[in-house]
Amino acid sequence: MNIPFAQLIQTLPDTVPFVGPETIERQLGKRFVARIGANESAFGISEYARDAIKEAASERGCSWYGDPENYELRSLLASEHQVAMNNVCVDAGIDSLIGLTIRLFIEPGMSVVSSLGAYPTVNYHVNGFGGQIHSVPYKDNHEDPVALLESAHANNARLIYLANPDNPMGTCLAPDAIAQLLNGLPDNCLLMLDEAYIEFMDKTPALSIDINDPRLLRFRTFSKAYGMAGLRIGYVLAHQDIIAGFNKIRNHFGVNRLAQLAATASIKDTAFIERIKQEVEFGRQRIYALADSLARNYVPSATNFVAVNIGDEEQANALIATLAQKGIFARKPAISPQSQYIRVGVGTHEEHELLVKTLPELLGL
Ligand SMILES: Cc1ncc(COP(=O)(O)O)c(C=O)c1O
Repeated sequence: MNIPFAQLIQTLPDTVPFVGPETIERQLGKRFVARIGANESAFGISEYARDAIKEAASERGCSWYGDPENYELRSLLASEHQVAMNNVCVDAGIDSLIGLTIRLFIEPGMSVVSSLGAYPTVNYHVNGFGGQIHSVPYKDNHEDPVALLESAHANNARLIYLANPDNPMGTCLAPDAIAQLLNGLPDNCLLMLDEAYIEFMDKTPALSIDINDPRLLRFRTFSKAYGMAGLRIGYVLAHQDIIAGFNKIRNHFGVNRLAQLAATASIKDTAFIERIKQEVEFGRQRIYALADSLARNYVPSATNFVAVNIGDEEQANALIATLAQKGIFARKPAISPQSQYIRVGVGTHEEHELLVKTLPELLGL
């Protein structure tokens, strides 16, 4: 049928950036027993958050729209990061904020630089707004700030996207490397720094916040350490003039009320986040030990997952498919040479035990 889509939409492929575990379950006709493929938290939400949701759900909390200003949450976030409230914009997760950022800065034909095989939602939104993605390879399993910068200069880019820590390899860059990238940016080029996994960066310090630098946007989420991926809530920290731009285009009732209440409550639960960091560190060590026992090397991780080297791309692809048959949902990097790895998420004790039982046999050990 001849549907009168806008011209740009007519040019877009039928892209589905992620095949969700539910889709695979429907294809396989059974439920996964272990869900360790989407970098979700295995440890649930804070009790404070659970109580806030329960209370709201039992009264009229679900019938009311959320606060369009996200006032209380922004106020807490501002004091946590020692910035002003007008340096914070809350939205339905980083994915949504990435879309808004592309819409804010990219006109059709403009360039955005990212890494080959990096978090794909960026490419999805760049294509969706008619921009042009330029991707540079990883270097030694790290996103490569020097190559990102060179490409930004060569392609007159408006935005560079960098996830630190990175998905899918779990590596992170030291603050100096990011500061150098920032200082080398071409005129009118901004850095989108995706810090979805920042709470898990235990050894490398994070870049300190200079909120008055108008070249830097820092994206944070409640999906990972706070365990709220299904609630959809995250935020961006940036110069107040950039946040004013977000306020012109964001969906003002797009953050659901329960997510607002849960995020606000869980920030107050500092013991919770400390426990989660410890759980994740323990989980990573367990995955390292498993990789060692399988004689496979791994990439030390600053996230809640570990890239384990299977040694061959085809074998790694086959392994993911067989794991799914055995009830284990995992994912892997798509682009060579990282494609010879599988990405093993920190799971519950039971999920990990299933992996320990299943993997040796599948690897012929
Ligand atoms: C690097 C990175 N950024 C963002 C996200 C998604 O964040 P959110 O759930 O806040 O949209 C993910 C999820 O896996 C991720 O790996």
